Amino acid sequence: MPPSETVLVTGASSGIGLELAKFFAADRSALILVARRGERLDALTKDLKAAHGIEVRTIAKDLAAPGAVEEIHESLKNRGVAVDVLVNNAGFGKQGRFHEIDAAQQSEMIRLNVLALTDLTRAFLPAMIARRKGGILNVASTASFQPGPMMSVYYATKAYVLFFTEGIAEELKGTGVTATCLCPGPTRTEFMARAGFKASNAFESAAMSAERAARKGHRAFRRGKVVAIPGFVNTLGSLLPRFAPRWLPRKVTKFLNS
Ligand SMILES: NC(=O)c1ccc[n+]([C@@H]2O[C@H](COP(=O)([O-])OP(=O)(O)OC[C@H]3O[C@@H](n4cnc5c(N)ncnc54)[C@H](OP(=O)(O)O)[C@@H]3O)[C@@H](O)[C@H]2O)c1
Repeated sequence: MPPSETVLVTGASSGIGLELAKFFAADRSALILVARRGERLDALTKDLKAAHGIEVRTIAKDLAAPGAVEEIHESLKNRGVAVDVLVNNAGFGKQGRFHEIDAAQQSEMIRLNVLALTDLTRAFLPAMIARRKGGILNVASTASFQPGPMMSVYYATKAYVLFFTEGIAEELKGTGVTATCLCPGPTRTEFMARAGFKASNAFESAAMSAERAARKGHRAFRRGKVVAIPGFVNTLGSLLPRFAPRWLPRKVTKFLNS
């Protein structure tokens, strides 16, 4: 059982974030749940309090909105709440050709997947280092390992998350604080619908449960691992771009994302 701690989870209203919140709740960590759909967070709060008797706060906030990260940081600081573990999970993708996807949605994606994640980390990390305790768990993707035609911006944002997390993980050595990057492959959540993909049998047969993806991330974080890829096929798939000629993953990914 880890010592008492407070864990902030973004994107806790569904999918992998909701399952990550459950794993940290089972550790009896106090939770701060962030997402836009407050009613979903309230329902999860009720369940987690009943199951584990833990303290749970909710913050209904659009993390892609300007000033959102600063507001969260300030309001927790003013209430004397220290965040020991930051789980940057909120994110979304959009399928289509770059020049045809709504420009505002592309910008929103970069603000959420990249900027909010970076700003939250910058806001909470110094106090973790001062306490020599806690860490960051960022959710990237197997998309992080290669370019992603028909989802080009999304794949690029996830490459950022992986490289950023690996970079700070190395910087943090010896501080008592860790950084872990979870890189799930296809996972059954609301992600595909929001991205604009039609449900396909190929996705359904390749996809794993959000619970399994979250278990891998939670365990890797607890063990201080830097990169965690759930599932053998996903692990293998993430290795291929390293050994294949650069054009091959581009072609395969374009086919899979079309
Ligand atoms: N599912 C997959 O196949 C897959 C594969 C690899 C990586 N991932 C990554 O896993 C992470 C979680 O996604 P998921 O699959 O669990 O999808 P999901 O079910 O759609 O969950 C996304 C979460 O992010 C929150 N969110 C979205 N926009 C937000 C915003 N502007 N402000 C605050 N919260 C926001 C959503 O809550 P609200 O809508 O209530 O705000 C929701 O809780 C993402 O980073 C995604 O890129 C997913």
